[in-house]
Amino acid sequence: MKILIVGGAGYIGSHMVKSLLAAGHEIVVADNFSTGYRDALVGGQLAELDIANAAALDTLFNTQRIDVVFHFASYIQVGESVNEPGKYYANNLAATLTLLQAMERAGVRRFIFSSTAAVYGDPNYVPIDEAHPKAPINPYGRSKWMVEQILEDFDRAYGLKSVCLRYFNAAGADPDQQLGERHEPETHLIPLILQAASGRRSAITVFGRDYDTPDGTCIRDYVHVADLVAAHALALDYLQAGGASKAFNLGNGQGFSVQQVIDTARQVTGKTINVVDAPRRAGDPPRLVADAGLAHKVLGWQPQFASLDRIVGDAWAWELKHPWH
Ligand code: UFG
Repeated sequence: MKILIVGGAGYIGSHMVKSLLAAGHEIVVADNFSTGYRDALVGGQLAELDIANAAALDTLFNTQRIDVVFHFASYIQVGESVNEPGKYYANNLAATLTLLQAMERAGVRRFIFSSTAAVYGDPNYVPIDEAHPKAPINPYGRSKWMVEQILEDFDRAYGLKSVCLRYFNAAGADPDQQLGERHEPETHLIPLILQAASGRRSAITVFGRDYDTPDGTCIRDYVHVADLVAAHALALDYLQAGGASKAFNLGNGQGFSVQQVIDTARQVTGKTINVVDAPRRAGDPPRLVADAGLAHKVLGWQPQFASLDRIVGDAWAWELKHPWH
């Protein structure tokens, strides 16, 4: 198949490109390199463009016979989305709509979308299943939930079939250590802890020890990037087999506290990791854990790298191999 990967130079997108190339697909990557990296592209053709540019998208779809679009390109920082909502709605919502309209003009009717656990907001219960009320509490989560709703309308009106994959906490790195997580600035817990372990940072800051959790720190469901990528490949099979538009949670169903992640990183790395305590970060729900039963049942998804040791270990190998000073 000929697959367009939007955001293929980013963290999860680049791992997807590598996996789909290995499976023998023809890959076109669309990226504007606003947050992605040229050296994260391991192959495929490159269309350097911004998906806000409808004319550039029309040219792309008119010159390439694309069968399916994977969309990874979005801004992902919750705090930034609160301070700069326009940036989030312009890129995550409006530019995605421009992409969907270009697909409609070109007759491309398969779409796999990177959604997020942030669509659930502060959960009423855990583990969270897909039926949990959608009540995002920040512009980032709202932008993703709005796209999910647009996709329902596009299916009804135009027959666009989509899979929305609601990631919990994406983490880890390519088991071959060719690719990994590289955000600038980095805000995610595991890479920050490992930067404290390698000496790139002096310490990891723990945001809040007064949550209603066993050790007082927030609990998250970390899922290996290779397992996320595998779920996307299964979503493609599902759509190709005629599956209906659907949303799936992707997580391991097991929560780890911030303190447990730090302890695991100390064991995996054998390094001293200094900790600084700080007040709660605004907008952090105390506990996010997935019920991914639907993905297991319908997609046949079985995570292969579910242990936190493995997730942290692969991220540590990447940190050691690529000390981005
Ligand atoms: N944390 C710290 N110190 C840090 C960074 C994070 O204590 O320096 C804590 C956070 O407070 C949180 C946990 O570690 O409790 C995880 O934080 P991350 O920033 O790594 O991830 P989030 O859970 O905030 O967000 C992630 C993605 C979002 C997505 C969200 C939905 O980054 O894009 O999951 O589950 F929306």
